[in-house]
Amino acid sequence: MAEPTIEAYYLEDRTFPPPPEFAANALTNDHSLYDQADADHQAFWAEQASQLEWFEPWTSVCEWKLPFAEWFVGGTLNVSVNCLDRHVAAGKGDKVAFHWEGEPGDTRTITYAELLDETQRFANVLKSLGVARGDRVNIYLPMIPEAVVAMLACTRIGAPHSVVFGGFSSEALRDRILDAEAKVLITADGGYRRGAVSPLKPNADAAVAETPSIEHVVVIQRTNNDVDMQDGRDHWYHEVMAEADPTCEPERMQAEDLLYLLYTSGTTGKPKGIMHTTGGYLTQVAFTHKYVFDLHPETDVYWCTADIGWVTGHSYIVYGPLANGATSVMYEGTPDTPDKDRFWDIAERYGVTLFYTAPTAIRTFMKWGTDFPARHDLTKLRLLGSVGEPINPEAWMWYQEHIGGGNCPIVDTWWQTETGAILIAPLPGVTTTKPGSATHPLPGIGAELVDEEGTRVDVGGGYLTLTQPWPAMLRGIYGDPDRYRETYWSKFGDRYFAGDGAKLDDDGYLWLLGRVDDVMNVSGHRVSTTEVESALVDHPTVAEAAVVGAKDDTTGQAIIAYVTLKGGNEPSDEHGQLLRKHVATKIGAIARPKTIIFTDDLPKTRSGKIMRRLLRDVAEGRVLGDTTTLADASVVEEIKRRAAETPTEE
Ligand code: PRX
Repeated sequence: MAEPTIEAYYLEDRTFPPPPEFAANALTNDHSLYDQADADHQAFWAEQASQLEWFEPWTSVCEWKLPFAEWFVGGTLNVSVNCLDRHVAAGKGDKVAFHWEGEPGDTRTITYAELLDETQRFANVLKSLGVARGDRVNIYLPMIPEAVVAMLACTRIGAPHSVVFGGFSSEALRDRILDAEAKVLITADGGYRRGAVSPLKPNADAAVAETPSIEHVVVIQRTNNDVDMQDGRDHWYHEVMAEADPTCEPERMQAEDLLYLLYTSGTTGKPKGIMHTTGGYLTQVAFTHKYVFDLHPETDVYWCTADIGWVTGHSYIVYGPLANGATSVMYEGTPDTPDKDRFWDIAERYGVTLFYTAPTAIRTFMKWGTDFPARHDLTKLRLLGSVGEPINPEAWMWYQEHIGGGNCPIVDTWWQTETGAILIAPLPGVTTTKPGSATHPLPGIGAELVDEEGTRVDVGGGYLTLTQPWPAMLRGIYGDPDRYRETYWSKFGDRYFAGDGAKLDDDGYLWLLGRVDDVMNVSGHRVSTTEVESALVDHPTVAEAAVVGAKDDTTGQAIIAYVTLKGGNEPSDEHGQLLRKHVATKIGAIARPKTIIFTDDLPKTRSGKIMRRLLRDVAEGRVLGDTTTLADASVVEEIKRRAAETPTEE
């Protein structure tokens, strides 16, 4: 485990109290939520859970048998009822749930009543295809409304979903389907990306050819490209929906029933199926979405730019906003199609008031320049959010000035696939922010830093740990309880170890510093070094590979691969391209290395362990750290020389 570095730590003396007008109208503008949570942790979360609609109340708020938590035990509820039926029953059927916009410019306005109707029909379709309570359903879709329908339909019948990001390869999809043993796959012919059709069905076909558990595939027609439909197995969404029964009774789910699996990278090559359950998860995503974004559902228009394939999409496009009856924007494509002002054009046209995006996007907008946002009226914006990686103060300030017009609070939200919901963030009507700091744990969350020995650190750098269970916490890794215990609960006693380094400043503000394990964070996406190494070594010409994440001005970290070729193969730029492409095909474009450096040898200790720390030093152009434990010290000099000669891909 690496020491948390303090390079990313900026001693900022700029502070931003909540703008007075914002604070005056905020849902909360004093410390009462923190006080309530401190006074009685369980009562606090019970109060939040009671904002949902339950069929039967829980008998116990939290049962904690380390490392396994159960929340709202005995309570029963249905997620789709909480996200849809109760709003329709309250007379809000005509309220817009989503202003959806496709990349080519086509639009759809979907009300809560329409979403409920489509969800029930699709729930019946799933049932007719043999999906029963507890069966897993895989979803591999672009950012289209049917992705939301598919997820909600699963929750209606109690079938846990496993959404796989549409940018993942067929092999990544196959592995996730195999692990979840899903019965049905929901996909589309394709989606639009950067003006072109990005086909999905061929990937789905390749995956399903090797996943015996899949009995049926439902295909949404989005791009009208030619696809093969296998008789009996594949069904067009529009055809099965036309025949579906319009009403579907919601399943009464136990609070602890599995709601979904979402796969994320860890330190090994095998992605982990993170398990989230029903009652606690919905409670906390609804609570955080309401208070961190200061949601006024009757007047706000909320837009989270994440993809539904990541946890941010699950919690803050689908479940949090819908549980709160919000009106959201959902957009299919890239921010530079047809031009680099697409986001601001959308924000202006729909009157977006709350905007949630990632630092990597903000840094890209900075690079593109201020003219693009300046073309549009963004004065309706009243709050900005950030998620996925540390936001550097420069990007924070730019975001505030050029997108927020200087008067929007910024909520920098720290959380993980595993945490399910935001844990560390400002409350925008309460917290004085500092650019680059996620500030403090939210009410009901215990977060502390510890040193290598597990002793609490009150000021300075340390490892981020969580001291209490929280309702949306992962319940485990699917099929692998030992890995769950080992990954999160073994390093620091009874504390959850997040894998992140952080620093506490003199005022008690938390500054997240990035991962301290072998997980890279590329544009806010988690990619494990081992996964990329395995993909490289899988190529017939590669003898050995070592992968590190190096600091990158736009993507946060960039993937740098050091590769030794098997005898008879010559390093060349073309060969580098070939290997980069190979990784993209094996995992997905997000894992494509930025640079491949060919080397005859890798720096190893006498026991044969690759010293990634030195490779990171080389990649970031730093003076090399301690090389005394190297078996052959000349290797690094050679690598440095090769690195200096290697072109970098943009
Ligand atoms: O390193 C932290 C970083 O992203 C990791 C979690 O990645 P993932 O599970 O893919 O979820 C991303 C979206 C929630 C964390 O361990 N991270 C996330 N948000 C922040 C962050 N690092 C610093 N500041 C943040 N606001």
